Amino acid sequence: MKTTCSLIKADIGGWPGHASVHPKLLQLAEKGLQNAVQTGLLTDFYVTHCGDDLELLMTHQKGEDNEEIHGLAWEIFTQGTKIAKDLGLYGAGQDLLKDAFSGNIRGMGPGIAEMEFTERKSEPLVAFMMDKTEPGAFNSPIYRMFADPFNTAGLVIDPSIHDGFIFEIWDIKEHKKVIMEAPQEMYDILALVGAKSRFVIKRVFPKKTNPKLTQDEPVAVISTEKLFQVAGEYVGKDDPAALVRAQSGLPALGEVLEAFSFPYLVSGWMRGSHNGPLMPVSQKDARCTRFDGPPRVIALGFQLHNGALTEPGDLFDDPAFDNVRRQAQKVTDYMRHHGPFEPHPLPMEEIEYTTLPSIMKKIGNRFKFMD
Ligand code: F6R
Ligand code: MG
Ligand code: MG
Repeated sequence: MKTTCSLIKADIGGWPGHASVHPKLLQLAEKGLQNAVQTGLLTDFYVTHCGDDLELLMTHQKGEDNEEIHGLAWEIFTQGTKIAKDLGLYGAGQDLLKDAFSGNIRGMGPGIAEMEFTERKSEPLVAFMMDKTEPGAFNSPIYRMFADPFNTAGLVIDPSIHDGFIFEIWDIKEHKKVIMEAPQEMYDILALVGAKSRFVIKRVFPKKTNPKLTQDEPVAVISTEKLFQVAGEYVGKDDPAALVRAQSGLPALGEVLEAFSFPYLVSGWMRGSHNGPLMPVSQKDARCTRFDGPPRVIALGFQLHNGALTEPGDLFDDPAFDNVRRQAQKVTDYMRHHGPFEPHPLPMEEIEYTTLPSIMKKIGNRFKFMD
């Protein structure tokens, strides 16, 4: 049986500031998606938030890029924006860049991680959601899961994945994509995805030799909408989300999670303009507080069966990740001490907020050419 899983997210108003999502917005989304189950549009759903992003996980039989499914998400985000405005929530409707829905939510502001695939007998599915960072923040963990033998033991010792995986990588500046294979092209892949502000992993596919997966169907998908690219200026936030399938011909659940055992530096913290450690947290800690962060990631694990989702397991709500969090806290202190000095703020070309042009103007011809 084929199922489509659509994880669509947007920041339609923060509470308070850019910290979290107000319960009334979560209730509205629950109600809207529940109605869609009753009308038969959706098979199942789960509503949550990561920081100030409202996250709608939906399962259905309509395939990817479906107008009704995208329209449903858009409707919830626009209704939610009305509530956000009534409550005076912060930045109400900030990620909705267009006024009217025209068939597909892509390019309208919300982030989309969506994949259609044939369900295996048992289908573990993890929804990852991040706040205060950018789509490229998934590059390192996704690479580690599917290509790094020091992370995923199965790449070495499980015959079904020993041949590796296929990566679809997008160049978000040039609007191009390329398909690359690991392990054959590992170093080339790393040369691209290490430059995470430009090259982002969009999807992962199994190799043809993988006996346990259906060919040409994705095993992971990441939202890659860069709002800066969509709008041509800095508006809204492109905090990303991803869906990853696990086990039996794929990295085990624990290998998928192990990829988050190092709180590496990602960009997008405070004013979208700072680097900071990616901290894996439980759902209840998915609030961005200190210096509007630090950047956070949550992981909710489901079993998917005939399109139905079990209740989620809150996978980072676990002492096994305490040391990662402690390390992230230390790195938070360390990075904060840099204040306005790079590499805490992003380099000039990538910074979202800047006063530099007006300062240069003010200084004017006090800047003298040197001999
Ligand atoms: C980062 C983020 C926040 C805001 C910051 C300033 O992605 O959303 O750090 O950039 O709180 O927000 P404004 O300019 O709305 O006061
Ligand atoms: Mg916000
Ligand atoms: Mg956000």
